[in-house]
Amino acid sequence: MESARCKGKVIIKLGGSLIEKGRDIVRFLRDYAEEESKKNALTIILIPGGGPFVEPVRNLSEDTSMSEETAHWMAVLAMHQYGLFLANGEFGIPLVESVDEIDGAGHVCILLPYKILKAEDCLPHTWDVTSDTIAAFVANKIGEKTFIKLTDVDGIIDEKGHLIGEIPVKEMIEKEERGCVDAELPRFLMQNKMSCFIVNGNFPNRITDVIEGKETVCTKLS
Ligand SMILES: Nc1ncnc2c1ncn2[C@@H]1O[C@H](COP(=O)(O)OP(=O)(O)OP(=O)(O)O)[C@@H](O)[C@H]1O
Ligand SMILES: [Mg+2]
Repeated sequence: MESARCKGKVIIKLGGSLIEKGRDIVRFLRDYAEEESKKNALTIILIPGGGPFVEPVRNLSEDTSMSEETAHWMAVLAMHQYGLFLANGEFGIPLVESVDEIDGAGHVCILLPYKILKAEDCLPHTWDVTSDTIAAFVANKIGEKTFIKLTDVDGIIDEKGHLIGEIPVKEMIEKEERGCVDAELPRFLMQNKMSCFIVNGNFPNRITDVIEGKETVCTKLS
């Protein structure tokens, strides 16, 4: 299987759905990256999802006359809240807010996207664009053509309940297949010639399998 590791960098979006195990996953990845770096340079860049932090914004945006613009930036800041929660200030995991900071940030960092998005405000401000598409945008900005989305299911499940191992983004767009990703993500991946591996974060060995290019349980959006 094609590896999610290019030029020593791996971008991982850590879904809000994994909030209960999120910190364990961060610690696991920190230890893995430290160990791996003894052989080959490896930097893991974690991008937080929104999870429960984004729900109040979504509810407010439905109940009040808040503009999409306001809701968009509040939702981006919900990712910051999850990022702070994941780092928790105790594991030595740096929080970075620009691409330039990544190189000095060690083997694992958590990227907070607000400033990057403000500087290059080209994504639509709708609920079709949330943390999955933002993670793809940031990965592209860093120069990576793939990223891993960690979530609480094994990947995209079809209507018969079977896991889809690989699906072309073109097919997702044509069939309006959404699965467990942002509505906008397939279009963004196609426009930017990117791919994405959807992996169940409850099984850390699957994450390292994807990083190392080994066959594993996941869905690849190609
Ligand atoms: N066809 C499908 N295949 C897989 N999961 C699906 C599908 N349709 C809906 N889902 C749901 O999508 C959920 C995962 O997406 P969700 O947006 O809740 O989590 P996340 O992306 O990890 O978190 P966040 O968006 O907060 O960062 C799964 O728990 C599952 O219930
Ligand atoms: Mg989601």
